[in-house]
Amino acid sequence: MAPTKTLTYLAEQKTLESSFVRDEDERPKVAYNHFSDEIPVISLAGINDTDGRRAQICKQIVEACEDWGIFQVVDHGVDTKLISEMTRLAKEFFALPPEEKLRFDMSGGKKGGFIVSSHLQGEAVQDWREIVTYFSYPICNRDYSRWPDKPKEWTEVTKEYSENLMGLACKLLEILSEAMGLEKEALTKACVDMDQKVVVNYYPKCPQPDLTLGLKRHTDPGTITLLLQDQVGGLQATRDNGKTWITVQPVEGAFVVNLGDHGHFLSNGRFKNADHQAVVNSNHSRLSIATFQNPAPEAIVYPLKVEEGVKPVMEEPITFAEMYRRKMSKDLELANLKKLAK
Ligand code: SIN
Ligand code: FE2
Repeated sequence: MAPTKTLTYLAEQKTLESSFVRDEDERPKVAYNHFSDEIPVISLAGINDTDGRRAQICKQIVEACEDWGIFQVVDHGVDTKLISEMTRLAKEFFALPPEEKLRFDMSGGKKGGFIVSSHLQGEAVQDWREIVTYFSYPICNRDYSRWPDKPKEWTEVTKEYSENLMGLACKLLEILSEAMGLEKEALTKACVDMDQKVVVNYYPKCPQPDLTLGLKRHTDPGTITLLLQDQVGGLQATRDNGKTWITVQPVEGAFVVNLGDHGHFLSNGRFKNADHQAVVNSNHSRLSIATFQNPAPEAIVYPLKVEEGVKPVMEEPITFAEMYRRKMSKDLELANLKKLAK
């Protein structure tokens, strides 16, 4: 059944509704505003220079990918005015009355629109977030009837934002291809017809943030994700399988770049797929905009280069659609095991 209320309604209550309460082992271990500067912030200024600057940027990106699978980029060439317009519109969308947002409700398998709170297929616990999402590339995937019509500049600005982020993603994929000793276009070619999906996340203030997550721990399935976040904080990463967590320091105007499973497999495991989650708090609502750059469903997933004497991380080449299906069924299996253990 389609929801009639949004999360903002639950945010006004004193205690957290039980459907959002996570098992103890999944709850946040580090505060949303206990920032760490361990994730490198890399300037892309001079990325096309041939005097050694490109090689220096490449080295910094590669080190971050080998270490965390996450880094931040500044001087990335995306206009600051466009970034603030996109942020303004996103905030205005979530501030609309529930009935306006729910006109774009995605339940029932619609392609794009609004979701009150997401949860994995089969998982009982919900994430403390509202999202609005649209499919922007390939262009034939655009269903403008599923793109919000309020605020009125939404379609015009989001189109421009998507185009700019596609450009930035391609620049970063060129660097990663070169780092693997391959031609510049190797990673984009491996994506066949690169897919882009934008998810705008709104995390309302939460009455009991220690019991829940804005977004459950995961790795992104695609090649890379470019995340724009406000100054509140809440994105957390781990590199030791959840033993320690750090909260990524928000940097004004920066994009957080996450390497996904596809990027990880194509590099034969050399680049990590960022293990991350989002936590919430009771003081501030938070906004983030994730742009997922994914391969086409039919693109083949297999390491692009396997060094002599090194075992490939995958047994056989599979399509991205199959990789995604396996990931989802593994998650579902884990969720069911968890339910059984209770
Ligand atoms: C995401 O992983 O897609 C979003 C994380 C965040 O909002 O910080
Ligand atoms: Fe993610």
